Amino acid sequence: MRLTPITLGGLTIDNNAFLAPLAGYTNYAFRRLCKGYGAGLCYTEMVSAKGLKYGSENTEELLYTNAEEGLCAAQIFGSDPDIMRAACEHDKLAPFPIVDINMGCPVPKIYKNGEGSALLENPALAEKIVKECVKSGKIITVKFRIGINGNHLIAKEFAKRMEGAGANLITIHGRTKDKIYAGEVNFEQIAEAKNAVNIPVIANGGVFSNEDAETLLTQTGADGVMVARASLFNPQIFCELTGKEGEGKRAMFEKQLKWTRQVCDERFTTVFMRKMAAFYVKGERGAAGFKERLFKAQTPDEIWEIVQEIWQE
Ligand SMILES: Cc1cc2nc3c(=O)[nH]c(=O)nc-3n(C[C@H](O)[C@H](O)[C@H](O)COP(=O)(O)O)c2cc1C
Repeated sequence: MRLTPITLGGLTIDNNAFLAPLAGYTNYAFRRLCKGYGAGLCYTEMVSAKGLKYGSENTEELLYTNAEEGLCAAQIFGSDPDIMRAACEHDKLAPFPIVDINMGCPVPKIYKNGEGSALLENPALAEKIVKECVKSGKIITVKFRIGINGNHLIAKEFAKRMEGAGANLITIHGRTKDKIYAGEVNFEQIAEAKNAVNIPVIANGGVFSNEDAETLLTQTGADGVMVARASLFNPQIFCELTGKEGEGKRAMFEKQLKWTRQVCDERFTTVFMRKMAAFYVKGERGAAGFKERLFKAQTPDEIWEIVQEIWQE
């Protein structure tokens, strides 16, 4: 794809191929892996602003980062402008100069609370949240969908409002909330929004190859792309997008296992890395048998033994 740096506030992001926030996946180890394969910017999993305020979430692990990972964005969700601003100013977000606000999450519990994609229906509140968050001094970005359903598409209007409120960049997932992750990406909606604002626009949805990324960029005129599900099966999609050299799955897995263990306990590491190995083995011969063995593994060392048999190099 056409690579360009993106300038945000005083920061320069190396390139315009971003890793999406993925709840349950984009932890420190996974982000560091994708960054190493060329991703320009990676996002944490979404973190509840209220959870930060009341200390009720396992934010320690969700928000772990370090100098080796380098520049990373944190994503928060919530609906109360004051609590959202307090989250931006929270000590735990200090290592993240960029804070992204989730305005696309379709999960019923979030939506019913007036958070995530519910903000698409309440643009005045969405605007207020961004305005408050901007006061924290962070670089504020917004990730949103093109509407709740096909009857009312709002990308252009919403993009203008987010820009007006002070957002430094927007990411548009070109699907409506009711489609969850299925169906075509609406290029036109993203293109209209891109033409209506002067801040960088990142297009998201359906990028599973370099060709998909090029189509998305060409059809929308966006400044960059954000990759979500494809990265779960293949973190090295960022090598494909950026021309960086890749490596074998075994070397990839070894790194991810090491970095996950560095931050998470043995139990979490076991469960998480079993899941990742199952993603990475998909489509290979003998995958079903290996998955069965993997899911019986009780420690990270047992997983590693099995993985070394699957991937000889
Ligand atoms: C398992 C999973 C978790 C997700 N978690 C988040 C999240 O925490 N924050 C967010 O903004 N979007 C989240 N998304 C949406 C993705 O970031 C992305 O917008 C969507 O998957 C479309 O991109 P894709 O077609 O490349 O998968 C999640 C999606 C999936 C499949």
